[in-house]
Amino acid sequence: MSKVSKFFLGILIGAASLIITFRIINQAPSQKLHPDDKFRAIVDNSGCNMCHNPNPKLPFYAEWPLLGGKIKKDASNAYARIDLNIYFRQFEEDKKVDNLALSKIEQVISDGSMPPFTFTILRPGSAISYKEEEILLQWIERQRSRIDIE
Ligand code: HEC
Repeated sequence: MSKVSKFFLGILIGAASLIITFRIINQAPSQKLHPDDKFRAIVDNSGCNMCHNPNPKLPFYAEWPLLGGKIKKDASNAYARIDLNIYFRQFEEDKKVDNLALSKIEQVISDGSMPPFTFTILRPGSAISYKEEEILLQWIERQRSRIDIE
């Protein structure tokens, strides 16, 4: 085999293993989980809390040049836009989740704008897949149809 074809074969194998790894990491949560646990798994995996809270806990690559700067900037804007901790806490405390917050989350999940692209390319598996989107939208519907006993 010539050097050139070895080179291209190398790239091909590299790309294939990247795609396979990505698909394994980006699996939707197991079907067996309770819908609430599926929701938790997706939110955890997608880093929503990393940005949308008063003290963003950013991953190490937020220190990297170029994309890191964008992630840091996003994180500081994210909390100003919406503090998701408040709503996730309502959910964990078994209270009815604020309706306006549900609509905002529904909006970003349906239009695929969250998590931001610069974040998902550095964090394999954090992008919301079609299946995960479905689970999140169902979770939102379930929260809406809850009757609050207070
Ligand atoms: C890298 C940081 C980052 C991550 C991770 C992230 N967000 Fe965001 N989010 C932002 C920024 C920045 C904005 C404001 C976007 C804008 O102004 O265009 C935003 C906006 C939003 C809004 C809109 C608020 C409004 O006022 O309409 C919602 C809802 C939201 N994010 C939910 C989520 C959810 C759910 C996740 C996880 C799936 C998530 N975000 C992950 C940075 C982040």
